[in-house]
Amino acid sequence: MHTLITEIRDKQNITKEQLQLLLETDDQEMIEELMVCAGTEAQKVYGNKVYMRGLIEFTNYCKNNCIYCGIRRDNCYVDRYRLTKDQILDCCQSGYRLGFRTFVLQGGEDPFYTDDLICEIVSEIKHQHPDCAITLSIGEKSREAYERYFAAGAERYLLRHETADKAHYEKLHPKEMSFDNRIRCLHDLKEIGYQTGCGFMVGSPYQTVDTLYEDFCLIKELEPEMCGIGPFIPQADTPFGKEPAGTLEMTLRLLSIIRLIHPTVLLPATTALGTIHPLGREKGILAGANVVMPNLSPVGVRKKYLLYDNKICTGEEASECCGCMMRRMQGIGYEVVVDRGDHPLYDKKR
Ligand code: 5AD
Ligand code: FES
Repeated sequence: MHTLITEIRDKQNITKEQLQLLLETDDQEMIEELMVCAGTEAQKVYGNKVYMRGLIEFTNYCKNNCIYCGIRRDNCYVDRYRLTKDQILDCCQSGYRLGFRTFVLQGGEDPFYTDDLICEIVSEIKHQHPDCAITLSIGEKSREAYERYFAAGAERYLLRHETADKAHYEKLHPKEMSFDNRIRCLHDLKEIGYQTGCGFMVGSPYQTVDTLYEDFCLIKELEPEMCGIGPFIPQADTPFGKEPAGTLEMTLRLLSIIRLIHPTVLLPATTALGTIHPLGREKGILAGANVVMPNLSPVGVRKKYLLYDNKICTGEEASECCGCMMRRMQGIGYEVVVDRGDHPLYDKKR
């Protein structure tokens, strides 16, 4: 194998020069080796298992105005919805019957869901399904709020950092949002004891090798249990609506590099990756990813949670999407598991 790749694997680190080379090379053989090597590393930790999480997109109201995002506050074309506590519990119930033991509650930053209400929802899910893990993905909150959700039973939290380069962050977000606060959130989550996920979009406007290198430095420093990356895809009603999308090729290379420098990380092959290429998620798994997140949201709201255009899986019932995902993963020789799928180094605190 190419020494560049074995060196990155053995050191579990990458220099900016190596990153640049891997992202810019046309040497298909080397890229193929990179992906095979990352796939092998994933298999060393997780075998041929792919963890499946049930995603529930429970609100598309958002007080933020991120320039890239389809559900940003200023997008007046969005048909806004909120799921009630009972609707969320119903989603979990049907997910549970399908075998899911991890639920990811994702939403815009919607003040309608007060900290009390979030805690109530989390504890009720835990009460009904004590054997399930709950992941929250509801944005930037105070440390106290994160502590309360954790006490209520949420054990995992996803908050993509979006970019670890402050100047780049400020090009993707309006002035009212703060890079420092976002990083503060991630450190708080880690300290509280969440299995914490950061992440970024691939090919977001103004992204460069330098900003990506910063992303890798953050990953090395934070040591997140999870890392969500997927291609940026323009949404027509946002200011970035005419920007080019991130590519499959670049996303796969970055997934592989993340696996090599941080071998135990839970790494999803995202819906966005499946959106830019019909076999994107399969290719993502083969390049080192080990998580998929089919949608359990009610079919009636799915087309409304459009962070980007042409999103897949918006017409299917939960069971169809789940069956489809299983077939897809089996098709590439992987076994789908629906158990909690904790990070291997996570000592269960409760
Ligand atoms: N394309 C791809 N991903 C997007 N996200 C938001 N908007 C887009 C887009 N246009 C991602 C962000 C966010 C996650 C929930 O979805 O990274 O953290
Ligand atoms: Fe959702 Fe195929 S994975 S429909």
